[in-house]
Amino acid sequence: METSARIQKWFAENGRDLPWRHTRDPYRIWVSEIILQQTRIEQGTDYYHRFLQQYPTLSALQQTDETTLLRLWQGLGYYSRALTMLKAARACSGAFPDRYDDLIGLPGIGDYTASAISSFASGECRAAVDGNVQRIIARLYDLEEPVDKPAGAKSIKMLADELLDRRHPGNHNQAMMDFGALQCVPRNPDCHQCPLQAQCLAYARGTVGERPVKLGKTKQRKRCFHYLDLQAGHTRFLRQRPEGDIWTGLYEFFLIESDEPLTSESIRQALGSDRFEIGRQSKTYRHVLSHQQIYADFTVILLPGGEAAPPGMVAIGPEALDSYPLSRLTLRYLQDSLQ
Ligand code: ADE
Repeated sequence: METSARIQKWFAENGRDLPWRHTRDPYRIWVSEIILQQTRIEQGTDYYHRFLQQYPTLSALQQTDETTLLRLWQGLGYYSRALTMLKAARACSGAFPDRYDDLIGLPGIGDYTASAISSFASGECRAAVDGNVQRIIARLYDLEEPVDKPAGAKSIKMLADELLDRRHPGNHNQAMMDFGALQCVPRNPDCHQCPLQAQCLAYARGTVGERPVKLGKTKQRKRCFHYLDLQAGHTRFLRQRPEGDIWTGLYEFFLIESDEPLTSESIRQALGSDRFEIGRQSKTYRHVLSHQQIYADFTVILLPGGEAAPPGMVAIGPEALDSYPLSRLTLRYLQDSLQ
């Protein structure tokens, strides 16, 4: 049996029954692929259903606004995915495309996503190569080239194309994804149960644990955020984050970004006023993103009643807080401060 047939046989016996595998609608498949890019299956499945309930069609998505979409996305992380989806949706005239060449030009759709959608939706012969597939191939062929460098990625892409079952490209791609996620796992794979054991060069050479080779992550940037939770009676104040940094479009408290600790003088300067009292200060939260570590604290600042909202901030009553999209960091603080 050739390699793909072995993987597809394994998939028929061990594959997961996932909701986006029951449709050939490219819109739905696209939604699943974008959600799954940086999200585990369990959490992703939940958001997939919620997303399609709110936006069952491309035209429903095209008509939404950023804030409503971000509110739905709240908690999933990597929020720019949602805004990029909206750009892609609005770039479509007519139906959502199901062919690689029409997909690849859309915002947020690269080679992997265009290959996945076109093979699942229209049976186009495209190998979808994500991290799981890279790992399978790096082991099968015992590749020493780093997979996170262009030359290594290119070799893998060529081998993935050779491996593709041209009669069943969609099923082949789904099978590869599950095989990578469940059998050929990153750490301590159970090679004794593996249907590719006899073909696997890394297994023969005892290098499975060293494949794939990765040169490693770029260094994480550290940032210190001091948030001021401004309060005037039951009113609090939020503002929307600008473009060009993390969390575009999400709402947050008044932010002072500084490596120095907060002092009453720095608060006075930031607010341009000395009509405030300093209230409770939170613990320091460490919040890890893909390329940044945020160290954040939140200080309650009591403003006298009747104070105008600081420039650029919206005044929010306790009930309305729920309708603004917030970062997970802000939600963590709010949940703690309610206790
Ligand atoms: N991860 C990304 N796309 C996937 C899919 N279609 N099935 C399972 N896991 C995935």
